Amino acid sequence: MIEITRLVKSFGSLNVLKGMEMRVEKGEIFSILGKSGSGKSVTLKCIVGLVVPDAGDIVVDSVRVDADDRKSLAAVRKKIGYLFQGGALYDSMTILDNLIFNLSRHRKMQRSEAADRSRHYLSLVGLKESLNKLPSELSGGMKKRAALARALVIEPEILLCDEPTTGLDPITSREISELIGSLHQQFHVTAIVVTHDILCAGILSDRAGVLDDGMLKYTGSIKELAAIQDEEVAGYFKSPLQ
Ligand SMILES: Nc1ncnc2c1ncn2[C@@H]1O[C@H](COP(=O)(O)OP(=O)(O)O)[C@@H](O)[C@H]1O
Ligand SMILES: [Mg+2]
Repeated sequence: MIEITRLVKSFGSLNVLKGMEMRVEKGEIFSILGKSGSGKSVTLKCIVGLVVPDAGDIVVDSVRVDADDRKSLAAVRKKIGYLFQGGALYDSMTILDNLIFNLSRHRKMQRSEAADRSRHYLSLVGLKESLNKLPSELSGGMKKRAALARALVIEPEILLCDEPTTGLDPITSREISELIGSLHQQFHVTAIVVTHDILCAGILSDRAGVLDDGMLKYTGSIKELAAIQDEEVAGYFKSPLQ
């Protein structure tokens, strides 16, 4: 469903991606683990054309992502729901309006239909009672839920989640991870989850990869990754109690 070949991206003298390769099959959840600053968010942004790679190919469901070709870019973006790292909710709009706005940008739909669908998705993530709240009135976990509903309301074939649990307490992190898992089961989306939360990756992933030094170093099931003798990888699996 998503194939990345020899992806290269630098910002000035900072070489972030150095020929990264990644393949995500239809319907699976693939997690990208990696240190802060390793290029996880940049990778997701390349997939939707928000960042333009220096070299390499990205193919999404047989369409090559090409930032110079607005048609192909629009076709790719139509398929993708994006849960941004910071949530990217509009502060001055209620969460219901945030969803309606996202829907009206991506799908041709009457406002009443868009409102009905938005309410439905907000209730799926447990925010039925908070439709008319502003993002500033929500807790961290509720904001992530709202951002997740905003990504899903367009009923995408692909879901990109950037740090869905970062900044949340362990209990809320688990709840959000399980919520993404149950929505994935319901809608059969193909998903990439960027995280440094091994619990989240463990709950969700079919497979995962570790982004290090501009390349996806290891890929495999979380179990397979846990068995790898590499300090960088092992760091994710160390319990603070050990
Ligand atoms: N638009 C940009 N301009 C310059 N540097 C950037 C830009 N976007 C990201 N970077 C740099 O690229 C590196 C990787 O960033 P990012 O993908 O956001 O890391 P992370 O793995 O934590 O998500 C970081 O050092 C970051 O500062
Ligand atoms: Mg990031």
